[in-house]
Amino acid sequence: MNLVFLDGKLLPADQAHVSVLDRGFIFGDGVYELVPVYSRVPFRLDEHLTRLERSLGETKIRNPYTRAQWRSHVYALIDAQSFEDQGVYFQLTRGAAKRDHAFPKNLEPTVFMMSNPLTNPPSAQVEKGGSAVSALDNRWLRCDIKSISLIGNVLLRQLSAEADAVETILFRDGKLTEASSSNVFIVKQGLILSPPKNELILPGITYDVVVELARGHGLPLEMRELSESEVRGADEIWVTSSSKEVLAVVELDGQAVGAGRPGAVFRRMHQLYQDFKREVMRAGRRERISA
Ligand code: PDD
Repeated sequence: MNLVFLDGKLLPADQAHVSVLDRGFIFGDGVYELVPVYSRVPFRLDEHLTRLERSLGETKIRNPYTRAQWRSHVYALIDAQSFEDQGVYFQLTRGAAKRDHAFPKNLEPTVFMMSNPLTNPPSAQVEKGGSAVSALDNRWLRCDIKSISLIGNVLLRQLSAEADAVETILFRDGKLTEASSSNVFIVKQGLILSPPKNELILPGITYDVVVELARGHGLPLEMRELSESEVRGADEIWVTSSSKEVLAVVELDGQAVGAGRPGAVFRRMHQLYQDFKREVMRAGRRERISA
């Protein structure tokens, strides 16, 4: 039986109960993370925990655990699953209280974690790329917080799901922001481009890995505002996230992107990402064996 974590305990999902007055349920008042786990080694766990701590700070939700406690709870959850490659989801809500928008001080946050089998894009999709549609980014102005209030993202993602596409790419005021559940990169004449991190996009952990890999391997890269026409005229478009890793978008709103197949820079980055992942996993295994 695969177990979930609720408020300090591991238990079967059907025995994990949360109050109907939980502010996560009533207001979507909480934050979350999703950490990919390869062969039981979490990828970039510290970076995810740093982002979680930041989301908690920005939303004034109390963090009940130290970094060491978070790590040990995540490892215990990973070890309680029967499968190797996992997507560990965790969320904290402000806790249960009488319904009132304003929140009482010193509420006990609700901490929930579960792990599901990790589903990275199948290799056929990596080879062929996927299609995307575009939409106006009509979400709030604090998309840098990884909030569980995801109705904006949900409705935007549904547009692409109904068009059988992998993502919805978002534009605000004629500028690229991100996609409904991933960050976006483009390539123009060999130069990799992506919007800078600000309050309009989620600071993606995968985005950081791609930036580090590009810099570390001398691939030209620039973070700057990108207009809608630059995106539509790009040679390549990629989406990045913990579950999609790096995936090429070869069609946007029915129009071919560049040559209509994954480009050379994408193939290079995808390979670098896979090599880097393997290195991290090997190092992670050694760390766990010696711990
Ligand atoms: N989504 N932007 C948005 C709006 C996201 O929801 C995500 C992640 C990202 C990429 O972040 P990262 O590289 O840290 O996964 C960017 C996760 C996977 C989700 O909601 O399931």
